[in-house]
Amino acid sequence: MERIVIKGGSKLSGTVKISSAKNSVLPVIVASVLSCGRCEIDSSAMLEDVHVISEVLRSIGADICINKEKIIIDSSHIRNGEPTGELVRKMRASFLIMGPMLSRFGRFKISLPGGCNIGTRPIDLHLKGMIALGADIILGHGYVEAKASRLIGSKIYLDFPSVGATENLMMAAVMAEGETIIENAAEEPEIEDLATFLNSMGSQVVGAGTGTIKILGVNNLKEANHTPIFDRIEAGTFMMAAGITKSKIKIEGVNEEHLKPIIAKLTEMGISMEIGNNNIIVDGTNELRPVDIKTMPYPGFPTDMQAQMMSLLCTVKGTSVITETIFENRFMHATELNRMGANIKLDGRSAVIEGVKKLSGCEVKATDLRGGAAMILSGLAAEGKTEISDIYHIDRGYVNIEEKFKKLGADIDRYDI
Ligand code: EPZ
Repeated sequence: MERIVIKGGSKLSGTVKISSAKNSVLPVIVASVLSCGRCEIDSSAMLEDVHVISEVLRSIGADICINKEKIIIDSSHIRNGEPTGELVRKMRASFLIMGPMLSRFGRFKISLPGGCNIGTRPIDLHLKGMIALGADIILGHGYVEAKASRLIGSKIYLDFPSVGATENLMMAAVMAEGETIIENAAEEPEIEDLATFLNSMGSQVVGAGTGTIKILGVNNLKEANHTPIFDRIEAGTFMMAAGITKSKIKIEGVNEEHLKPIIAKLTEMGISMEIGNNNIIVDGTNELRPVDIKTMPYPGFPTDMQAQMMSLLCTVKGTSVITETIFENRFMHATELNRMGANIKLDGRSAVIEGVKKLSGCEVKATDLRGGAAMILSGLAAEGKTEISDIYHIDRGYVNIEEKFKKLGADIDRYDI
């Protein structure tokens, strides 16, 4: 079983180049199905989730070639089959296929996505939106089927600005008859990036990145190429690594606009930043201050940064409080951090963190993708050796993360033990 082993205490220095955003690459790969042709996507293709979504699409006839630089998807031979249920349950993002396939074939059946360990992750908002667009939804035996002879543009109000529901409904609406308005839409940069790709295929999507998205249906879409935006969560993870190791590093290939909530919080803590035109020099050498965090939909503080921030706050003198408002079970990393000598008390959706002088290295688990990243950060700062198991979680969303940290000077290796 693979493990990441870190000997804590090294200072970091140098530059790290940030990869393409997992949460942009996945919906863009799915959206390419709408072209009925050949699309090319430049991406950090070695992400595990990219391979899973590719397998899901291959299971319904897509021809996908992944090489170091590029993902080439030919969806001309896609059939209206049922994707492999086990793959769909393995990764929730697979459910994004519903929109494009319903749009292209007028009916589609797929296994209900599994929840995952951070929450039940329902799909009610996705289905309510499809019904608003004129689809009939049949649920049963762990499957959901949607049917619509023609999708008709409609006004949809999302009870919650769900990222996935916004993306699924955008992809269902781009070839619907007439205009669709999605209100209380998610505003994450990845939504805007998906709209950029859809529009390069010939869609008419305006307002992506704001709470109201308007989509005028077109008759068909064409092939397009796309370079996804950078991964703001990977960038934030390295910014927090500078803080927890009291180092100064440069992160490259970033856009400050997408990092504003993270920059604001880290600045409040005393981390100083020098913002360049596509890079940021992060200086974590100052004495840091405790802060309170509340995760919110974008442009609030991202839930995907909550675990990494918890690791950092464990080493900051004073009391910090984290409130997780997005997912109901996203504090599993707290138990692992307390094993390392942290002082975290959980109370429902809140975690109270008393900073400690030192964390001590030990055997820990990656409880989920971002919890795993949090273990790397705490291992970098801990006294002695930290051994992280279940690192398959980490590989879902970070490309060669240990190589990137090693290049910055960390004493970190991946072993097959
Ligand atoms: C996306 O998940 C991201 N995944 C998640 O990143 C991210 O944490 C999340 O958005 C929030 O920003 C991808 O983009 C592939 P949601 P998604 O629908 O779309 C509730 C990572 O670490 N909800 O915005 O599944 C849901 O239960 C991953 O990279 C409903 O109630 O998130 C949750 O509480 C983790 N009904 C909240 O909304 C629905 O129909 C946010 O979920 C849909 C969602």
